[in-house]
Amino acid sequence: MGKQIVIVGNWKMNKTPAEAKAFMDDFKKLYDLNKNKLPQGIKFGIGAPSVDLEVVSKTKLGNDFLVAAQNVHFKENGAFTGELSLAMIKAVGANAVIIGHSERRAMFNETDADVNLKAIAALKAGITPIICVGETLEEFEANKTKEVVDRQTKAAIANLTDVDLKKIVIAYEPIWAIGTGKTATAEQAEKACAFVRAHVLAETPIQYGGSVKPENIAELLSQPNIDGALVGGASVDANSYIKLLTLNK
Ligand code: PGA
Repeated sequence: MGKQIVIVGNWKMNKTPAEAKAFMDDFKKLYDLNKNKLPQGIKFGIGAPSVDLEVVSKTKLGNDFLVAAQNVHFKENGAFTGELSLAMIKAVGANAVIIGHSERRAMFNETDADVNLKAIAALKAGITPIICVGETLEEFEANKTKEVVDRQTKAAIANLTDVDLKKIVIAYEPIWAIGTGKTATAEQAEKACAFVRAHVLAETPIQYGGSVKPENIAELLSQPNIDGALVGGASVDANSYIKLLTLNK
């Protein structure tokens, strides 16, 4: 059997519910037309703003469709103004959550310890954590990719069992490649994903993220330790996202 491909779009702070609905209507039509071209057994999904989760989850795209929130709090409830709990995102259709995206680490001060608490809480709630790791340009240029990826991965999965490691997804996203149009070469991406692999299981899907496009997805997926992608820019347009999922066929 080939690898389990897992591709998730990350809309970031884009689309109102009405815009999300328009996307899903277009995407569903494109999916029905193109589903025979999708790689065998692919799992795919969308990381949507929380207010869009309900509308995204209502589109019938099969049982494996991942409806991901882009953040969550690890506590069940309480005085955390502006935060959402796992029960809340679940109630509006989420079955996954992106955790520790570099934008959240850099702009909202999320720490390795927060990422670990969120991953543990998500697993407890039966939600798939998509855990992001990756180095800055400065760290990349100082040859610190391995050090950063090792530290972030180890911290994120602290106290997880082997059973848990089969339920998570890790996304390696070099920060210098996010939204810059500058993709890591397939070799660079593979090298870093192999650093991640050393901490997880053969069965743990490892995604690459950072300027993934229909034109480069197939080459990235041909690498032994790259099982999928976390896709920002190319996932906000239904045509480009379906093209990416068919590996540009
Ligand atoms: P990008 O974003 O594909 O637009 O580079 C990726 C991400 O931030 O997950």
